[in-house]
Amino acid sequence: MKRITVGLLGFGTVGQGTADILRQNCDVITQRTGVEIVVKKALVKCLSEVNPLPVGIEVVTDPSSLIDDPDIDIIVEVMGGYEPARTYSLLALQAGKHVVTANKACVAKHYRELLEAAQLHGVDYLFEASVAGGIPIIKALKESLAGNRIETVQGIINGTANYILTQMTQNSISFYEALAQAQQLGYAEADPTFDIEGIDAAHKIFILALLCWGVELNFDDLYTEGISSISPVDIELAQELGNTIKLLAIAEPEADGRIDIRVHPTMIPSTYPLAAVDGVFNAVYLEADALGPAMFYGRGAGKMPTGSAVVADIIDLARDMACGVAGKRIAPFSFATLRPAQIVPIDEIHSSFYVRFTVKDTVGVMREISRILADNDISVASAIQKGRSNDSTASVPFVVITHEASGLQINKSIREIENLGITTAPTVMIRVEE
Ligand code: NDP
Ligand code: HSE
Repeated sequence: MKRITVGLLGFGTVGQGTADILRQNCDVITQRTGVEIVVKKALVKCLSEVNPLPVGIEVVTDPSSLIDDPDIDIIVEVMGGYEPARTYSLLALQAGKHVVTANKACVAKHYRELLEAAQLHGVDYLFEASVAGGIPIIKALKESLAGNRIETVQGIINGTANYILTQMTQNSISFYEALAQAQQLGYAEADPTFDIEGIDAAHKIFILALLCWGVELNFDDLYTEGISSISPVDIELAQELGNTIKLLAIAEPEADGRIDIRVHPTMIPSTYPLAAVDGVFNAVYLEADALGPAMFYGRGAGKMPTGSAVVADIIDLARDMACGVAGKRIAPFSFATLRPAQIVPIDEIHSSFYVRFTVKDTVGVMREISRILADNDISVASAIQKGRSNDSTASVPFVVITHEASGLQINKSIREIENLGITTAPTVMIRVEE
C-alpha cells in the first residue's frame, strides 16, 4: 500500500489535533483513500516542553530536519504568525513538498509569493483550515460552487469573538472572563488582539474574496473593527430592539468592479439565521447565482474541528498524489488568473446605525444631538434614553437608531456632537443590517 508521510511545523492545538485524527481514524482514512498516511516528525521550539512526547512521532527543533527530509511528502504549517511561517512554507514549496496550512495570517499576507512558489515547483498549497475552522468552505468555493457567480458572502468567522459575544449576551460574563475562557479552550490566536480587533476575521474574508472573485485587494484598505468597544449596555439595548450583535465579515462585488469588503460588529435581527450562530460556532452565508442562498455552519475553532480541516487537505493531496495529479488539478485560489481590485471605502457604505452617546443628563442635550443629525441629513428612526438621573452631572446612555446613512455622514455627526462637549465617553456606533 502507498504510504504518504507528513511533517508538522508546530505541535500546539491544531498540530496535535491533526496528529490525533490521523492516528485515531487511520482505518477509515485508509479505507477511503487506499493510502496509509503517517506523521513522521513534528517541529517544536523546545523539546522539554512537549509532555508527554507523542507516540510514533519524532519531535525535532531543527526545521530543516523536516523540510529537507526526503521521506516527507507533505509539510503542515501550524505554527501561526507571519515569520518564520512564511519562510519555512516557501522553503518547503521550493523543496518540492506540498504545503497545508491553517495559518490565515500568513495566507492573507503572503499568498502571492506562496502561490508563485507552489506553481513554479508544481506542488499544492492548501489552506482549508484557514477560514472558519472545521467548516469546509474553501473546498465548497473551489470545487462545489465553481460553476456559480458568487453574489455576496457574509460570515461569523472568528470563533473567539463570537464566543465572547455569546457569553456576554447569554450568561452576563464579562468580556475579559469570556476571552480567558476562549484562550483556555484553544480558540484564540497567540495574540488575541487579532481575534478581538477583527484582524483575524479580516484575514479570513480577504481569503474568501480571493476565492469568490479572484481579486487581489490591498489588505490595509480593508475596514476592520473589532468587539472591544461593545459593552453590556449595547448588548442589552440590542436585545430590547429585537436584535443581536455579531462580528460580521461581509464581502460583495460592486457593479464598477470594486469590492465592498469589511469587518465590524453588526446588529442583526434576532430572527436572522446568523443571529442563532453562538459560541465557537461559525457560519458563512452566501448567495450564488445558480445555487441561490446557502449557509455553511460548524465549529470555527478548536483542536479537533480545525484538525479535521487540515486532515481533509492532507487526504485531498494523498488522493491526488496517488493519481499523479497533485499540484496540477486546481489553482490554489481557484482562479487561473487573479485580477487587482479596489475596496469600496467604508465611508461610502450606507446602512442604518445604532449610535450610543454617553451624555450629561441635562436639558437640551437631545435637542442638540437631533439638530446635528438633521444638519447632516440623517433621519432618526428612534431614540432611547436609558435610565434617568437626578444628578445633572451624571452620565446616561442616549441611543439613536438612524435610517440609512453613509459612514461619512455618521462619523461627521459624531465628531460634531463630541465637539459640543456634551459627551462624557467615546461614542459607540454599530451598523444595523436589516
Ligand atoms: P498554538 O500556539 O497552540 O501552536 C503553535 C505551535 O507552534 C506551538 O507549539 C508553538 O510552540 C509552535 N511554534 C511557533 N513558532 C515556532 C517556531 N518558530 N519554531 C518551532 N515551533 C514553533 O497555535 P494553534 O495550534 O492554535 O494555531 C496554529 C495555527 O492554526 C495558527 O496559524 C492559527 O491561526 C491557526 N488556527 C488555529 C485554530 C484554533 O482553533 N486554534 C483554528 C484555525 C486556525 P510554543 O508553544 O513553544 O510557542
Ligand atoms: N482564533 C481563531 C478564531 C481560530 O477564534 O476563530 C480559528 O481560525
